[in-house]
Amino acid sequence: MSKHQTTQDGWGSKLGLILAMAGNAVGLGNFWKFPYMAAGNGGGAFMIPYFIALLLLGFPIMVMEWQTGRFGGEKDEHTIGPMLYLQARQRLKPKTALKIGAISGGLCFAITLLINSYYTHIVGWTLNYSVMSFTGDYMGANVDTQKLFVDSISDPVRVFVFWIIALVLLAYVVSRGIGGGIEKWAKVMMPALYLFAVILVVAALTTGSPTNPDWSALKGLNFVWNPDFSKLTWGGTMAACGQIFYSLSIGMGLICHFASYLKKEDDVVVSSVATVALNEFAEIILAASIVIPIGYAYLGQEVLESAGPSLTFITLPNAFRDMPLGQFFGGLWFLLLFFAGFTSSMALYSYVTKFLSEIANISQKKASWIIMGCFVLIGFPVALETILNKSGATYYFDELDLWIGQYFLLILGLIEVIVYTRFISIRQQMRLNEGALAKLPKPFFTILLKYITPLMLIIVLTAATIERINSGAMALIPKGDDGSVDPMRVFWVNLARVVMIAVFVVATIFTNRYIKRKYAGELSANVPVQE
Ligand code: ALA
Repeated sequence: MSKHQTTQDGWGSKLGLILAMAGNAVGLGNFWKFPYMAAGNGGGAFMIPYFIALLLLGFPIMVMEWQTGRFGGEKDEHTIGPMLYLQARQRLKPKTALKIGAISGGLCFAITLLINSYYTHIVGWTLNYSVMSFTGDYMGANVDTQKLFVDSISDPVRVFVFWIIALVLLAYVVSRGIGGGIEKWAKVMMPALYLFAVILVVAALTTGSPTNPDWSALKGLNFVWNPDFSKLTWGGTMAACGQIFYSLSIGMGLICHFASYLKKEDDVVVSSVATVALNEFAEIILAASIVIPIGYAYLGQEVLESAGPSLTFITLPNAFRDMPLGQFFGGLWFLLLFFAGFTSSMALYSYVTKFLSEIANISQKKASWIIMGCFVLIGFPVALETILNKSGATYYFDELDLWIGQYFLLILGLIEVIVYTRFISIRQQMRLNEGALAKLPKPFFTILLKYITPLMLIIVLTAATIERINSGAMALIPKGDDGSVDPMRVFWVNLARVVMIAVFVVATIFTNRYIKRKYAGELSANVPVQE
């Protein structure tokens, strides 16, 4: 057996597996992105497309990814490229399946590497902010939280120290493998995260109406749970679909990667339900009951609606400052964000590491430390931009997030669904039910997964593409909202595009080589392999 094969590696217990999967899914997307997306897209009005997307995209893709992962694991594959090749070559000629495998493997590597190249920075910011909160850095009445944030992300010492701490910890955890590293850390971090969140929910919901009789925590809850249908928009619908993907970690290869370490008899249906339930509990019950009530009670609906991505780092500290025990609650909030971000980052890091160990045939440990070097390199522009421009503008990171974090996930999800429902037999598809306590009925595969899920994805992707063309998001010389051209924006946006294309192309070439090497026999026969 070659050095990199880790057939002995795997989940130690069911609880560990579920907590690691929850850690994979529950992340900054739940606690940082979701509240500002919901608030900025009409509160309750956002929740309608959100629930539809959860039902028609989120759950079906989640359960399909668990099965794709378990299937890949049976053949000692732990990344998306070879998994989709092995599925597609059941109906297609292996040489055609190779193209699908190589492209999806390249896309998935680009998604995981590039999301984590900025994600690890935000994880570093959250650690920095939890220290700043516990030491009371924004508690003074005259502190300008906007300036504080810009100063903290343009201070090279703070940026590098906290980012490197996050990267070293990630490299260490992932070098110890699935059972010995990721599972152990998730078992500590996830219960702590839920505990912190419950404490913060209690603090948020007992806030009352401290500054303005028209603003209260309960009005905040009403804003999220009472839909105003006039605020329902296409933009909100697309954002909701993207949020479901990002938040559940689907279309990223991460669920398949973790599920590839399952045992044959493990129940993927109940496990998928548990992952979705834990993720949604964190997102729509906990995150929505912390950020929105606190923000509403102290700052009002208008501030909440217009805050955008600055909600957590710039807006909320203003509320913690006025809150009784705000220094403590602020610290707890950012520590919670750190745990949430770190456990998702572990999954992203683990995927990239496994990819390298497979294609280069090196050990997990070695690959993990080499990957740390790759992140230092590939994440460097994120740090350089915030340090150099000193204005808080993050053009490079925004461009990566716009394409990788909100668009390519949906494309990979669509490829996976097409391969699963068109290129493997219904008998193979329904192997998903093996070992399951509650089995999914045939129409789940023949109607929902085969037609409804891909159709909805195609509609959303088409609308998102048109919207991107119309808004100038694809222009070579991108303009600001006021039509102005900023040379810094042009530079960073185009650099991000070059990096995205380069990573995708290189990863596709390496995936192609890996599959060709491992499945040379069936590729030369070039006859579909029925299973
Ligand atoms: N699913 C992870 C998150 O929500 C990536 O942040």
